[in-house]
Amino acid sequence: MLDARTVLQMNEVRLSDYRPPDWLVPTVALDVRLDVDRTLVTSRLTVTRNGDHRRPLRLDGQDLETRRILVDGAPVEAVPNGEELVLAIPGDSAVVEIEVAIAPRTNTRLMGLYGSDDLLVTQCEAEGFRRITWFPDRPDVLSLYTVRLEGDAAQFPILLSNGDRGAAETLDGGRHAVTWTDPWPKPSYLFAMVGGQLAALRDEFVTMNGRRVELAIWTAAADVGRCSHAMAALKASMDWDERIYGREYDLDQFNIVAVSDFNAGAMENKGLNVFNSKYILADSETATDADFDAVAGVVAHEYFHNWTGNRVTCRDWFQLSLKEGLTVFRDQQFSADQGSAAVRRIDDVRALRAVQFPEDAGPHAHPIRPDHYVEIGNFYTATVYNKGAEVIRMLHTLLGRDGFRRGTDLYFERHDGQAVTCEDWVAAMEAATGRNLTQFRRWYDQAGTPTVTVHMARAGRQLTVNLAQSLAATPGQPSKAMMHMPFRLALIGRDSGRRIGDERLVELTAGETRLVFEDLDEPVLLSLNRGFSAPVKVVAPASRADLAFLAGADDDPFARWEAMQRLSLDVLATDDDPHELVDAIAATLADGAAGRLDPAFVGEAVLLPTEAFIGDQASVVDVESIHRRREAARAAIAAVLEPQWWQAWHWHSGTGTALNAGAKGARRLANVALAYLVTAGSAEALAAARQQYDGAATMTDRIGALSALINTDTPERDACLADFYDRFAGNGDVIDKWFTVQALSTRADTLEQVQVLLRHKDFTLHNPNRLRALVGAFAANQRRFHAADGSGYRLLADQLLAVDRINPQSAARLAVPLGRWQRFDAGRGALMQAQLQRIAGTAGVSKDVMEMATRALA
Ligand code: PHE
Ligand code: ZN
Repeated sequence: MLDARTVLQMNEVRLSDYRPPDWLVPTVALDVRLDVDRTLVTSRLTVTRNGDHRRPLRLDGQDLETRRILVDGAPVEAVPNGEELVLAIPGDSAVVEIEVAIAPRTNTRLMGLYGSDDLLVTQCEAEGFRRITWFPDRPDVLSLYTVRLEGDAAQFPILLSNGDRGAAETLDGGRHAVTWTDPWPKPSYLFAMVGGQLAALRDEFVTMNGRRVELAIWTAAADVGRCSHAMAALKASMDWDERIYGREYDLDQFNIVAVSDFNAGAMENKGLNVFNSKYILADSETATDADFDAVAGVVAHEYFHNWTGNRVTCRDWFQLSLKEGLTVFRDQQFSADQGSAAVRRIDDVRALRAVQFPEDAGPHAHPIRPDHYVEIGNFYTATVYNKGAEVIRMLHTLLGRDGFRRGTDLYFERHDGQAVTCEDWVAAMEAATGRNLTQFRRWYDQAGTPTVTVHMARAGRQLTVNLAQSLAATPGQPSKAMMHMPFRLALIGRDSGRRIGDERLVELTAGETRLVFEDLDEPVLLSLNRGFSAPVKVVAPASRADLAFLAGADDDPFARWEAMQRLSLDVLATDDDPHELVDAIAATLADGAAGRLDPAFVGEAVLLPTEAFIGDQASVVDVESIHRRREAARAAIAAVLEPQWWQAWHWHSGTGTALNAGAKGARRLANVALAYLVTAGSAEALAAARQQYDGAATMTDRIGALSALINTDTPERDACLADFYDRFAGNGDVIDKWFTVQALSTRADTLEQVQVLLRHKDFTLHNPNRLRALVGAFAANQRRFHAADGSGYRLLADQLLAVDRINPQSAARLAVPLGRWQRFDAGRGALMQAQLQRIAGTAGVSKDVMEMATRALA
């Protein structure tokens, strides 16, 4: 018997094994007869030999019933060998016709063609096209597609695919067909088709060269009214990409379809984006301000992929960050331009630290360009996406806005229509700017979060600052080379509270960098890694008094917020009285009240770091102490500043439904204030929460009040929770929030409540959003998931194994929290490992889950 690790190694795909495809497929014609139980797909591929070799044509397929294979019109007797079909082709080109049958109804993986509500919809990235027909399913095979979709006209009145809509046919027996032609060559992962009863919100956009583009967002008829925010975001994205990157849309139509069952956020299929409905549907009744922002951000992300991903695509899946890091950077830039850039940057950093830093510090650490995988679905990670975006941002910082733009122009000019590598991207940046990026390339190869340790020494009017970089070993990478990082810093006068001199952009390339500042007239403090210019950890000695000073004086909003975070972490790492923190928060609230800071920033700055983030700072996460200290600090902040919280709440609550930065900021601060008031625990606070809940004009305010109450044991909590369910029953995206808010409660009975919710009639393992809303959220509840008796771990493993039989991709994601076992005390660590072993030892577990569990145990 082979052990699990050996089996995994045998299935490992390595970057160093890359070979160009033996056969190309210039054209694909698909004829699809849609049927929920049995869809027939006939493909007609023209294939041409690529290079001088005699190798056969190898095609990928999965869960296909192969009915007929013809080569140049003649039937061949080839029999698939598992997931491979090998066809001997005598000449240098041929026409291959294959007919298969597939079963969408039983496709619970949500890869390939599957059912969601009454729709049939596809998802092909990364390797889903092979579940539709036999094909060389790899991103460096680019083809021109013609797709004829046929189905029952009543069941599938709308038939969509990539490209431009062509002829429609009315057929006998109540059937019809539509043919779509995509004029742009694309890899199979960008193929899409949708059939079903859909209504559209329509609009149009005229491009910079006068092309009139028909826009449509397709959804159930009842939801069309909730698509306007997404439509506005789409038009803003199209305009922004023209202005900032000179990129124009290239088809006469752009279609978006929203579906309830979807493994990820959304998919950039050429001309036919498919979205998780939670990133399209939004109105003030049902979506929070954060949801509205997420809708705009994801719409922009998928639209931007049309150039960064589709027109220029990836050679192989190791290059995933080529399109994802770049496109996340672009959507972050877009969102920052829509207003409140400082708060957006803080949110981006918060997300990076919450998900990517732990990944980089754990058993699943990998570079943004991994060099081996077993299941590519496991590499759609915060590292590839969010750290990938930080790497692009560093290039933008190093090259400057104009240099970066010259680089992207050259990249598009050189590589339009090609499948390329991260190396091609960096090479274009170098060629366009003359910069040498040799050392910078290490960001693509080395995993782990670098640390920059800062020391300063003052002698008279001179200050010497020493910056030392280091990077700890990660799995498979015992020693590391020095990184090239742009590091922004400035001096802040300790007396004047003003910046002294200009901000400096220092390029750290050596192990140590020494900076000397002359002629200083007053004591100074360092404002470090301003704007979070490099995705690193900074270690710098600073007293609490200095941090409190910076939290009130730093002129870089990120650094100012960061000073407050550092002060919080410092206080929360001890049992000290939190008076320094209370004072700093009071000062921030006073600045807000005086109009010196905008409410959105104040709302960010006065939030304590999460328990998980506090845990990330220590070598061993002390679950109970972290919770106890944080709650004690919250109680003190709530009690001492109660009048200020009331003032903030009265000023900022009841802001209405407007979506401008001012209104969003006000709602944010009001809800933070309300949470502190409920923590202080007066009867008036409970009444205020109840009043806010009942009178809420927006979901932000309604869920804000419910979240403030959820940790309490009060009739208000129970009443609001019950009302919330009744009010929104049937709206899946909102009911997800009802599950999540309960899973995140710090109450002692949360695990029990989650167990009850797992049996709720609205809970299902088949819907990825619902699974994340309950099980995923619970695993993020540090205090309750990490129960000392291991009951949280058992619950997670039980659900993981149950989902694995339905949807391995969803299941594999649930292994991540257990993989952090080394960070916890021996007792918890052993219990977490035991669940990982149980998972890895379960017969028939998917390779997705096996890879995650085995790596976690290594
Ligand atoms: N490529 C998609 C995006 O980032 C993500 C995705 C991956 C969607 C895999 C579905 C499946 O825009
Ligand atoms: Zn993407």
